[in-house]
Amino acid sequence: MNIRVFENDRQAAQAAACMIAAQILSKPAAVIGLATGGTPVPAYQELVRLTNAGVLDWSRVTTFNLDEYLGLPGDHDQSFKYFMMKHLFNKVNIAPESIHIPDGMAADPTEACMSYERAIREQGGIDLQLLGIGRNGHIGFNEPADAFSPITHVVDLTEDTIEANARFFASSADVPRQALSMGVGTIMQARSIVMLVTGTEKARAVRSMICEPVSPSCPASVLQLHANVTILLDSPAATAMNHCR
Ligand code: F6R
Repeated sequence: MNIRVFENDRQAAQAAACMIAAQILSKPAAVIGLATGGTPVPAYQELVRLTNAGVLDWSRVTTFNLDEYLGLPGDHDQSFKYFMMKHLFNKVNIAPESIHIPDGMAADPTEACMSYERAIREQGGIDLQLLGIGRNGHIGFNEPADAFSPITHVVDLTEDTIEANARFFASSADVPRQALSMGVGTIMQARSIVMLVTGTEKARAVRSMICEPVSPSCPASVLQLHANVTILLDSPAATAMNHCR
């Protein structure tokens, strides 16, 4: 694990944007895995700025998002599709057919998961996957469990995640209880992984991910086994790391 600690969240997000930009510049037809949530928003702003400055061309880029709520249509303002259109895709020159987000309205969600896996394979796999981390150590919507999930699947969200995401909805009762998510195995097959983590409320999860033995009780800990992973932290998110072992 390559771990970098920045003074503040803006600098950490800038570093994440630079790593994505570098991937696209070195391989214009790159396949990029993307995340939603509050953390990556400033990184997406920076990518839009670089695009407007003429540095980045998205015309040959393909993207795969980590996850989507089950039961929310893409035009619902809390769907991850809506989030991605608003923060990135509507602002860069990516081809609509190159955008992939699990279909939260699929009549057969299990088949939708299988076809998502196939689509990733057909594109030759993911070059760079951007991740965040949940307070409980989740990556994508892979919640703490007894075993790592191998592929894209339907997940039941934990109460902790529902409560954490309620800030985006009118109330926690409105947060969907299920989602479609890439599996831990899907994520681990990405050729490189960049995780962006900011804020003290993530410090304990960061500590478990980095300092404790690999275990599905902290899904992010599996990243210790990836050959090319960079963890970008602001200093509040790094505060518990000095208690490592
Ligand atoms: C989002 C995702 C989640 C988030 C995590 C952190 O696509 O897969 O794992 O990265 O829940 O969310 P924020 O950034 O809102 O704290």
